[in-house]
Amino acid sequence: MKRIGAIVLVLAAVACKKDATDGMGSAGDIAPPAPAKPRPSQMKDAVRPMPPLELPADAKRAEKIALGHTLFFDPRLSGATDRACYSCHQNEDGTGGHDPIAIGSGDKKLTRHAPSIWNVGYWNAAFYWDGRAKTLEANVQGAWGGGNMGGAPAGATPEATVAALDARTAELYKIPAYKAAFEAAFPGVAPKAEQAIAAIAEYMRSLVCTDTAYDKFAKGDQTALSEQQQRGFDLFVTKGRCNMCHSPPFFSTAMSVEGGAYFNVGIGTKDVPADQVDIGRKKVTNVEGDWAAFKPPSLRNVRKSPPYFHDGSVATLDEAVKLMASGGIDNPHKSPLLVDAQLTDAERADIVAFLGALDCGSLEKPTVP
Ligand code: HEC
Ligand code: HEC
Repeated sequence: MKRIGAIVLVLAAVACKKDATDGMGSAGDIAPPAPAKPRPSQMKDAVRPMPPLELPADAKRAEKIALGHTLFFDPRLSGATDRACYSCHQNEDGTGGHDPIAIGSGDKKLTRHAPSIWNVGYWNAAFYWDGRAKTLEANVQGAWGGGNMGGAPAGATPEATVAALDARTAELYKIPAYKAAFEAAFPGVAPKAEQAIAAIAEYMRSLVCTDTAYDKFAKGDQTALSEQQQRGFDLFVTKGRCNMCHSPPFFSTAMSVEGGAYFNVGIGTKDVPADQVDIGRKKVTNVEGDWAAFKPPSLRNVRKSPPYFHDGSVATLDEAVKLMASGGIDNPHKSPLLVDAQLTDAERADIVAFLGALDCGSLEKPTVP
């Protein structure tokens, strides 16, 4: 982590230095210097391949993943059998949600957009848009027992929630194919919700996206990115300043950093009365500076996962990039790291083209017994 931090600082220094020169143009009286040509060395420094996801040894991991894979796609987990995890983390939506604001079991409108879950195992004690869950298991239990899946009755106590999920696991265990899958993954254990949750979490950790065109480029294949994409990447880490919060190789500076990192870029604050704004991270920390701050999502697979932002308020990638590159939405707590990068339309198009080099693979649909 230290290493990533240091690289971010170096890049930030590069970006700031460049901004200082660019800024002279807007002062008016001095002719701006000719824009610096992208320096290949800057890009080279920033190009880093993904580290492997390190997991403790587990002789039954493959069996857990197989079980979790099936459970992830099974609507019988949900109270009204009307939602599977997959309903909101769909492949065709880049593993994010289709609806701007997710619609949970019983067609109940939730409060946020479902994020893409590629590489979710790399988050470190920072799950959800606001990082309120410390472990993937807690996140899975929350998704299953809460309004998303309605696995437990609304308003159930934590104990009653676990009891409801235990009962649902017992029901599934009566299905012969599930019985065999649970026994393979957890030999000699009468399965409860805890095992189902562990299996789903293990499946989620298997959703790694580490072989994009960008990764191939990072490993030395110079042909993996088009010229426009290479220009876009250079702008991403210099003039665009995107790397401040979306640093490679994760394309979220918050990913793999213990506890995450949260920034207010103004999404969801415009024309909303202050007492109705989703206060994001502040709800977790109660720190005023965290008001309406959210985790920068990884931009891996972003091209395929519209709509964008925690409130799903932006429909296209071009608009989302435009909003970020122009400095977000002003509000009293906006992060000072986000400024108008003054990109030309062509430069913005280059960045959008580069983001297309972060496309991930696709999820295989299992046969649900
Ligand atoms: C009704 C839609 C819906 C369903 C069903 C659903 N989710 Fe989600 N999921 C969401 C939303 C919305 C969020 C973001 C919530 C927030 O940040 O407050 C989310 C967030 C997550 C995250 C956090 C990702 C991150 O970047 O931190 C994970 C992991 C996740 N869901 C897994 C699951 C699993 C596993 C299931 C099934 C047990 C599931 N989801 C079912 C809508 C859904
Ligand atoms: C100050 C930190 C910061 C900087 C700088 C920044 N971003 Fe972001 N970005 C965020 C945060 C935080 C979010 C999530 C905001 C929300 O939903 O409330 C986000 C969301 C996005 C999204 C939506 C992704 C999704 O899955 O919904 C895109 C696209 C994006 N940023 C691109 C960029 C680009 C391109 C740049 C550079 C021009 C940039 N960002 C600069 C913090 C930043």
